[in-house]
Amino acid sequence: MGLVSGFVGSQALLALVELGVLDRLRDRPRTAGELSPMLGLAPDRAAILLQAGVALQLLRRARGGRYALARRGAALLGVPGLGAMIRHHHVLYRDLTDPVALLRGEVDTELARFWPYVFGAAGPVAPEVAATYSDLMSESQELVAEETLRAVSLAEVGCLMDVGGGTGAFLSAVGRRWAGPRLMLFDLPEVVAGATARFARHGLAARAEIRSGSFRTDPLPRGADAISLVRVLYDHADSTVAALLSQAHAALPPGGRLLISEPMSGGARPTVAGDVYFAFYTLAMRTGRCRSAAEIAQLCTDAGFSGVRAIPTARPFLTSVVVATR
Ligand SMILES: C[S@@+](CC[C@H](N)C(=O)[O-])C[C@H]1O[C@@H](n2cnc3c(N)ncnc32)[C@H](O)[C@@H]1O
Repeated sequence: MGLVSGFVGSQALLALVELGVLDRLRDRPRTAGELSPMLGLAPDRAAILLQAGVALQLLRRARGGRYALARRGAALLGVPGLGAMIRHHHVLYRDLTDPVALLRGEVDTELARFWPYVFGAAGPVAPEVAATYSDLMSESQELVAEETLRAVSLAEVGCLMDVGGGTGAFLSAVGRRWAGPRLMLFDLPEVVAGATARFARHGLAARAEIRSGSFRTDPLPRGADAISLVRVLYDHADSTVAALLSQAHAALPPGGRLLISEPMSGGARPTVAGDVYFAFYTLAMRTGRCRSAAEIAQLCTDAGFSGVRAIPTARPFLTSVVVATR
């Protein structure tokens, strides 16, 4: 049953988030009748949604026919940007309407247009589009950074360059954790614009340098003894990844460190997060793919890196980590 109900559950979750149900229960439990005018739903329809919320363990039944936030619902509300991240799945679900056509490459996917400049190949992008994208990414970055920095210590790094680092969320997490590393951000010009304010907000402006360009066409800046690629490789085809890793190799001094962090396929042991969710998500993105740690390690080795190894993370559905040495 779980297999076929999963998609319906996702749609119910979308409705709960879209209508702000969790938010409306933040202060106190309410009945379906109380909520119905707030949600713009007939009472019996509101009850259907609330019951689904309970079944999904986001809500719980309280006394007097009321519905309250369950621990999972409260946790969801507590993660910044998670609501927006859930809402953007409308786009993915439309692309998945005919999964066979998607697999055959016959769908002109909306998701590819939703993240239009991810690939740096589509020309300039409107600032508001860049901002929406960057907000979604940087808000979800907090959890990814937390998981990544649990797996690796960057305390001894002299200068960390985060390539495809968006608006500097990962570097800010590194800077707040360790006082030592200088921070260098490299991303497309329309994206890095948001980084100045972020570094200033975290008191990191003096340690941070912002460089813009495209790793497709520009050489990577020199001067860093460690390079991170967080949620970058899975957006791109193998040929782009191979060229990027060669660039990273050339930009690092001997002994320099490479850190790759992104959701990965389970490889020989497929996982629902990596081999269902992220595999189909990147399929709909159309230019990249979700690779296993072994595949990423091979690409690193081919680019000239040594000491390549995967480091297990506690929450692989958020991210997995591969490190290597120049
Ligand atoms: C999926 S986002 C990840 C952002 C950030 N590392 C994070 O995890 O939140 C991919 C990033 O790669 C950047 N990117 C894509 N193509 C690029 C290119 N050709 N040159 C530089 N950056 C690029 C995008 O602008 C975006 O910030």
